[in-house]
This record gives sequence, C-alpha cells and structure tokens, in this order.
Amino acid sequence: MNDTFTFIDEARAIEIHDPRLPGPWSNYISNGTMHALVSHAGGGFAWWRSPLTYRLTRYRSHHQPVDSPGFYVYIREADGSVWSPAFRPCERTDTHPQALHQPGITTFTASWRDLKSTLHLYVLPDHDVVTWDLSLENKSGESRSLDVFAYTELSQHQWMEENRFGYYIRNMVKGWYDEETQSLKFLYHETNQPRPDISPMVTFAGTEPVLSRSLHRDRFIGNYHAERLPLGVSNNHCGNDALSCGEGCFALQHVVHLGAGQSTRMAWFLGVQSGALVKFEEAGARLAALLPKLRDFTYLDAQRTRLEDWWTEHFSAFKAEIPDPVAERSINIWTPVNTVHTGRYSRAVNALAPGIRAMGYRDTAQDMLAIAYRKPDWAIKSLKELLAHQFEDGHALHLYSLEGDIPPADSLHSDNHLWPPLLAYALVSETGRTDFLEESVPYVALDGKKTTGRATLWEHLLQGIRFTEANLGAHQLPLTFKGDWNDIIGKFSTQGKGESVFAGQQYCVALDNLIRIARFTNRKADEEWLADCRSRMAKALLAHAWDGDWWARGFDDAGVLVGSQTRPFGKIFLNPQSWAVLAGVGDRDQLLAGMDAAAEHLDTGFGLKAMAPGFKTFPEDTDPFSGYGPGCAENGSVFCHANTWAVIAECLLGRPDRAWNYYSQLIPENLIGQFGIDRYEAEPYAWMSMVTGPENDRYGWANTIHISGTAAWMDVAATQYILGIRPEPEGLRIDPIIPPGWPGFTVRRLFSSCMVDIMFHQSGEPGSSFRWATLDGESLPSEENGILIPRNLLTGKRAAVRIEA
Ligand code: NOJ
Repeated sequence: MNDTFTFIDEARAIEIHDPRLPGPWSNYISNGTMHALVSHAGGGFAWWRSPLTYRLTRYRSHHQPVDSPGFYVYIREADGSVWSPAFRPCERTDTHPQALHQPGITTFTASWRDLKSTLHLYVLPDHDVVTWDLSLENKSGESRSLDVFAYTELSQHQWMEENRFGYYIRNMVKGWYDEETQSLKFLYHETNQPRPDISPMVTFAGTEPVLSRSLHRDRFIGNYHAERLPLGVSNNHCGNDALSCGEGCFALQHVVHLGAGQSTRMAWFLGVQSGALVKFEEAGARLAALLPKLRDFTYLDAQRTRLEDWWTEHFSAFKAEIPDPVAERSINIWTPVNTVHTGRYSRAVNALAPGIRAMGYRDTAQDMLAIAYRKPDWAIKSLKELLAHQFEDGHALHLYSLEGDIPPADSLHSDNHLWPPLLAYALVSETGRTDFLEESVPYVALDGKKTTGRATLWEHLLQGIRFTEANLGAHQLPLTFKGDWNDIIGKFSTQGKGESVFAGQQYCVALDNLIRIARFTNRKADEEWLADCRSRMAKALLAHAWDGDWWARGFDDAGVLVGSQTRPFGKIFLNPQSWAVLAGVGDRDQLLAGMDAAAEHLDTGFGLKAMAPGFKTFPEDTDPFSGYGPGCAENGSVFCHANTWAVIAECLLGRPDRAWNYYSQLIPENLIGQFGIDRYEAEPYAWMSMVTGPENDRYGWANTIHISGTAAWMDVAATQYILGIRPEPEGLRIDPIIPPGWPGFTVRRLFSSCMVDIMFHQSGEPGSSFRWATLDGESLPSEENGILIPRNLLTGKRAAVRIEA
C-alpha cells in the first residue's frame, strides 16, 4: 500500500487512489472483436475489429489535456453542482475517485455528499458492446434529485483518413435518435471505405428513459467550453439535436430520484451493428432485438460472469507460490494479463500508440509463446496466420494486417522467418500434437504477384530455413538486410553485405527446435539436413563471432566487426552474449565470459542496456547509429525485451543469483519503488519495452508500455527457466534455478489437459541434481537437467509431483 496505488491480489486488481499521475495508467477491455482502452481517469477510446478502420470514439494521445476524452458520466445535483464517478471529466478530487483495474474490467468509485457511485466498464463477451454499468447509493439521509449524463465523442471510423481528410469527411456522417428503441445511432457513410459491406452502425442506448440527448459534439460541449462542464450539462438539457454533418458525439440525459438510503443501477451500451450501409433495416432490427436483453440486469450479470470465467480459465493454467510476493503477483496475475494484450494488439495500441501499426511478424510469433500454454488454439491459429504471410522463397512479411487495412510491409529482415519455428516447437511441446503441422496454408501474394503456392506448416518452416541458407554473407553468417530482432541494426548493412551474429545464433535455436520436432515426428531426412545446417552455422559463429572478451554483434558492409572493442561506440551488445548461451554455441568459458562482460558493461542496477556505449547523435556525430539519443531505445536504453534472454541465459548457465536479479530488478513494481512514480511514470503492472538508460538525464523513464515482447518472454523466463517447468515434445521437464535462499516453491500448471501440482523443496545448491522425485508417489529418475516426466504419464486429469533437491 502506498498513497498512489494498492495491489489487491485476491481480486486480481490494482486500485489507483491518486488520479494525478504523470500519465494515463491504462487497462484494456475487450471480447476479442470489440475493444477499448480505459485509463485510470476514465479516458480512453473504443474500436471494433481494427483501430485503424473502425475507430468508434476519439482520444487525444499526444495533446494537452492528455488522456481525454473517454467514457464520461456527469452527475448533476439539484443545486447545479456537477461531479463524475471517474476523475475525468469533472476532475473533482474531493469526490475521492478511485480506479480499479482488473483483467477486462475497470471500476471507478467516488462519492459526493454521501452519494456513492460505482461505474464499471467492460465489454460483453457475446456482444460487441462496451457496457457502462453505474450504481448509485444514497447514504446521505436526504432524498436526491439528479440528472445523469453519459457522453462519448465519436470518431470517423477511418483514423488515418480522419487525420488527413476529416474536414471533408465530417460531411459524410449522420447521427439520429431512434424513439422506438430509445437509442442514438451513427453512420459513417463515406463510400470509399474499405469494407462498406461490414461498415457498422454505432449505437448508444441506456436502461433509463431518455430526457434529452445530443449527437452534436460542438453543441453539447460548446466550443470554448470544456469537457469538464459541457454546455449540455450546465444548461441541464442536451439540446435534442441530430447530426446531419459535423463532429459527432453520443450524449444521453436521464433523471434519477433517490430517496434517503435508496440505491439504483443504470447502464449504457456503446455498440455496433455491422453491415448497416448495405443492410440498414437488418442492422436496426438486430439492435431492436438486442436492447431488451441488455436492459435486463440479470442478463448483464450473466455476461459479466462469462467474462470473468474467461479470465479465470486463463489464469488457472499456471499458479505459483513463491517466497517473493512481488514476483508472484507478476507471474500469476499481471504478466498473463499483459500477454493477452500483446497477443491481441501486438505493438500497435496503447495510450500513445494509435493502432495503425499492423501485427509485427516477429512480434506475434514471440507473443504467442506465452499464449501457447494457456490458449493453444489461439496460438495455433496465429502460427497458421504467420505462415500464410510468408513468401514462396521463405522470407516473411515484416508487418501484416489481418483486417487487410494496412499495407503489408515487405522489407527483408534476417530474422522474421526464424521466429515461427520457436512457436511451432512451443506448441508441439505444449500439446503433444503435430497434426496442425500437416495443415496447408498459402504463401503470400503481394503486388499482384499471384501465387498458387501452398504448403504444409512444416514445409513453410523448412522454407524459412532454406531462405537463410540461401542468404549467407562473406563469413557464412546470415545477411542482416534491414535488420534482425534489433530494428536499427540494419544501419550497418545498407549495402546489403552486413551480417548478423544474432541472426546466426537465432538460426541455431530455430534449427534446434525444428530438429526436435523432426525427431519427434520421425522425419529422418529433414532432421539430418537441419543438423547439417546447424553445424555449419555453429562453425561460422565460432570462427568469426568471438571478439576476444565477448561475442561481436556482426559485420558491417565493409566486413568490419560491429559490437567490437575496436569500435568507439556500441562496443558490446547484449543479445549476442545471451543468445550464444541460448544457442549453445561457444565453449563454456566463452559463454560465461560473454555474460560476465554483459554484467560488467551493461548492467545498470535497474536492467541491462541493449548495448554500450550509446552512439552520439546529431549534431555531434555525422554518422549516428540511429536518430535515438544515447540511452534511448536501441541506442543504449535498458531494453527490457532483450533482458528476458539474459535471465534465460543465466538460468542455462546455472547462475541463479544473476538470473533472479535480472528478472526481479525489472519488474515494474520494483522499478517504481526504485525511481518513484514521477521519474518512472508508467504503470506498475504492465511490462515495458524499455527504460531510458543512464546516458540520458531522463534515465529511469519507462517507455512503450503494455505492447512489448518483454511480456511474453518474461513469462517464459520466469515459468520455464527460473521455476524451470518446461514443456518438451516428449514430456514435461522440471529443472528450476531458483535463488539460493528460497526453500522451494509450489506450482499448479496445466500441461495438455493434466493439471500438475508441483512441490519443489530445495535444501542443496540450486541447480544440483535432485535427491529424489516422485510422480503420484512413484519414484522418477533424475537426469542432468532436472527430470523429464514422459507425456504418457501425464494423461490423467491431475498429477502430483514432489521433488527434493
Ligand atoms: C520494437 C519492435 O516492435 C520489435 O519488433 C523489435 O524487435 C524491437 N523494437 C527491437 O528493435
């Protein structure tokens, strides 16, 4: 507990007490099709399917006032004073507004002169509806007459077009009130939109009789008035206008009388009916049929229970009890919440990211590693989608859009096609299934270059390997092209000759994974060929990538080493040190030395820098690494995504102290403790892409929150490497590397359909072989790397594993 926020673990919640944060601390509410981002202050925006094409409400990310507008409720008292259940829009701190974020639901509570309000925002699992669910409780001892207004600002659906041509497009919208259903309706009828056949009618309706309403933002708010006190609220009437053109909004006014001690509940529904441009009557009829259902609170409560059940199932796949409460909270609650969001939004949507970046190819392949054990069907679907965005020559799109509304980015990278093998391996290991590898998906057709080519997922995976084989450089390392995992590293290969050590190491990991699958599925010829590719790449890495004290990052176009002591900047990069260990390429002394050098040169005490020293930038240097200032992003920030692999590498090297330190120092809650909210600024419950490094005077500032590969990989690092519960094709490996002071831990983990209870007790050195291990009371043989429980012993509903180490 501190003055600003409290975690409430039993409710899987964080309560934010002080709304005046340095920025929006947000939550996502969603059913997978209808989505909204909701901040602790009530700001945010809603979209349907795609935030680029069906953006329903507006939000100003970069402008002052920050974090507005949102999903607003105004409560007007009989004396004309106005307050809101969330901090925004009225900003009355004397109402003590609290925000409670939980997975899929945000709740605001406030009270004003002993009238208590509770506003829940959530999306219904079975309907594309953002629900605003408000309860009022009069504890004041007097009766209260209130006017309650709900308000949100409408967007013009196509967000890029709105920014470019909104001044025209505002003549292509229409909003009206439908008396019969007591609902507001809005149509965006620009004829050039991508899918007029599904373009939705946006609707807003409440449970209470409507006293007045508005669809006209500038009349309801009033130009040179403010959202804090709109004209419609101060006039106590919304004006009853329609919108024949202009800037839209939904505003509804209702009257509420509450006797002393009385309570009431009311709700509003911001929804969509698709296909309204082509089948207008049908869309209206669907809404008319739906509203009576929604206006029944029993139905609403049942929907909410279904929403909670979805999340409960998600959490039930893994639950740890460990001696560190902050890490336990992260592992059990907030990381799995975060991985759903990266799974849904890739790198595209947060309070600053507007959702116009498509799915990152490499990003989604990594994000799904953390979905594979909780929702394997979702991850298998993603694997198919990824491979359907691969070209016939084996390379993959860099960015792809499932809605087809963002032009795909076909830029050559050395790594994109090498991530799906990791996901395929995770899925085979998790499920024991290989049938999906036999399914066939097309290769991608781009720029009118049609392809009739299709292949099985397995063949697609091999095709990625063939692409790398066909694109090796002078040192037999993969050509970097536009980059590898590191977006900026292509700077060294603008002429196409640069080579990437990281991509070579990643190639080895991808090959290892495919070799395991080939062995598991008895594909002998493939296995041999893959093993041959691997041994050649390992040889090239050993011959060319060692810089004397650590692994170099690659070669530039001129064949000069990058990430080398010979360079004035960027002498050492983190990734080649950690991935050497992940790939197992290098002798043990080299692997240890690389990670020791990372500790010495890159660890800041609040995470490892991506590289050091940071390159100067304009105007000091005419040849900067990137436009990023030193200490920022790839230019020497604490790149949290890359830190995850350092955790895994230290586990693989058997150094629990370091592994734990690298993991725990980065947990956002710990970083906030170290830097304070004003410096760190971001949410204590969501992973970040990076934290500004010490070479910059804003060090400690967290960036790109919620939408980072840090989430999935921290999940993998903590659950599969520190706690060591690691699925493999043949079974479940248990091989923990926990801090020496821990007596042990317990974990309940779903493996295929078996819930496995693991009790691990450690009295010896971490990483030493087990004294004994049992499965349901029967003794299990230990190996060098912990134990491997064969898959066929884990086919029941439950299993209990006890280990003494
Ligand atoms: C963010 C990008 O979305 C991701 O794809 C990339 O791997 C990292 N930056 C590192 O450059």
